[in-house]
Parts: sequence; C-alpha cells; structure tokens
Amino acid sequence: MQAHSGSTIRIAMAAVLAAACTWPILSHADSAVDIEAGRALFMQKGCYECHGIFGQGSIATGPALAPHPVPLPAMEAYVRDPKGQMPVFSEEILSNDDVSKIHSYLASLPPSQPADSIALLNNGTSLATGPVSSSSKSRTEHPPAPGASIYAANCAACHGQTGEGGVGPALIGISSRYQTADIEARIREPSGIMPHLYPKPLSARDVQDVAGYVVSLK
Ligand code: HEC
Ligand code: HEC
Repeated sequence: MQAHSGSTIRIAMAAVLAAACTWPILSHADSAVDIEAGRALFMQKGCYECHGIFGQGSIATGPALAPHPVPLPAMEAYVRDPKGQMPVFSEEILSNDDVSKIHSYLASLPPSQPADSIALLNNGTSLATGPVSSSSKSRTEHPPAPGASIYAANCAACHGQTGEGGVGPALIGISSRYQTADIEARIREPSGIMPHLYPKPLSARDVQDVAGYVVSLK
C-alpha cells in the first residue's frame, strides 16, 4: 500500500487506531474487567455516538475524552449536569459505578503510536477478537487483504473497526444495498460529515481497493 503521508485525517485515524489496538495489553491501575465493562457501557449508553468509539471526539458531535479524561469526580459531576449540547445522564440511567468504569476505560486508552508499528493496520484483523500482541499477528503470517489496511487507516474511526458503525453508518451487509461502484462513488463524492478522502490521501486505486473490501463486510 502506498504511504499517505501528510494527511491530517489519516494521522487522526492512526491515532485512534493506535489507541484501539494497544489498550487491551496495557498494564494499568484499573482492572482489565473494569476497563472492559467501561468500554461496554461507553457503547451501550451512547457516549460513543458523540465522543467516538475510542473517546477520540469529533468536531461535529463532541470533544475528545481520551486518552486523558477529566478526573473522575469532574466526570461524574459533568454527566449529571452538562453545560451545552450533551444530554443529562441521571443516576437511574448511569450509576456512579458506571461512570467510574467508563472513566477506567477512557483512562486506559494510550496516546498514539506510529501507524506502522501496529500489526492490526497491516492485516485488517478485527479488534473484537480480543487482546492482540504484535508478535502473534505479524504481517508475514497474515498477508494484508486488499483494502483492509486502507479501511483501517481511513474509515474505521467513523464506520467501526469491523464496519459496525459509529459516527458514520454501519457498512456491514452493505452489498445488499450497494455495488462496489456505488461505494466508490460515495467515497469520491461524500455527503454529510464524511470527509473528502479522494484524490488525496486516497488514489483511484486505493478507492477501488477499499470499496472492494467494504462490499465484502459481513
Ligand atoms: C448527544 C451527544 C453526546 C452524548 C450522547 C454524550 N456526550 Fe458528553 N459531551 C457532548 C458535548 C457536545 C460536550 C461538550 C460540552 C457540551 O456541549 O455539553 C460533551 C462533554 C462531555 C464531557 C466534558 C469534557 C471536558 O473536556 O470537559 C464529559 C466528561 C462527557 N461529555 C462525558 C460523556 C459520557 C461519559 C457520556 C456517556 C454516558 C457522554 N458524554 C455522552 C456530547 C455528548
Ligand atoms: C469522519 C467520519 C467518516 C470517515 C473518515 C469516513 N466516513 Fe463514510 N460516512 C460518514 C458519514 C457521517 C456518512 C453518512 C453520510 C450522510 O449521512 O450523508 C458516511 C457514509 C458512507 C457511505 C454510505 C453508507 C450508506 O449506507 O449510505 C459509505 C459507503 C461510506 N461512508 C464509506 C466510507 C469509506 C470506505 C471510508 C474510508 C475510505 C469512509 N466512509 C470514511 C463518515 C465517515
């Protein structure tokens, strides 16, 4: 795959992915069980819809909460009495224990790493399969699927690691609605908050490859 250097979007996506790919193997004061519970709550309670799956934030919907969230008491106070666009989360909807677990999750997300050091970017393996060490999934064992690494670097932050959706709509099963050429057209002429990724950082070939990957998402 060609290098798409110089794109701020790609750098932001890489940062998100770096956070995504390394958190399960971090050692941290909070227990892995709490962190995992916090990740699940962050999804279930809809925080991810505005703050991004990895707390990376989005200009359109909400600020970044990770990797350095506000202190736990401040987070508790904030969700009970938010200042702006954010909805109120009462204790019936979100207990203090829930907030604490979400805080553990957000605090467990590490700062970014160079994208090239992340094995997942090179083989398109889903995060959902659990902790992954870079040695167990090297690029020599798993030759990259065409388009998978382009997807991971440019699309996954909004459409989800496995196309499950997030800021952008789910792409799983998209072949029932779109053909590859339609997906290419959506990338070339995006609507809504989806950014222009063509002709830079993605080349025409990259667009074909990533569309071919997206259409295969099941
Ligand atoms: C509908 C969108 C939306 C949802 C859902 C949402 N937030 Fe927010 N959040 C925002 C926005 C927008 C802000 C920025 C200030 C404001 O407008 O309230 C914010 C601010 C915050 C802040 C303050 C950040 C800072 O740097 O001061 C915290 C903490 C926070 N949100 C946590 C959460 C948690 C935890 C959840 C889930 C339980 C959540 N938010 C769900 C939109 C959302
Ligand atoms: C910053 C977030 C973001 C990024 C990055 C992004 N998208 Fe999107 N995408 C969206 C949003 C939001 C929509 C919905 C647009 C709308 O509502 O008009 C969308 C829509 C789409 C659609 C149409 C889905 C449908 O059901 O109609 C496709 C296909 C798509 N994106 C593919 C991609 C691919 C492939 C990439 C990477 C090359 C990508 N997107 C990168 C946010 C993003």
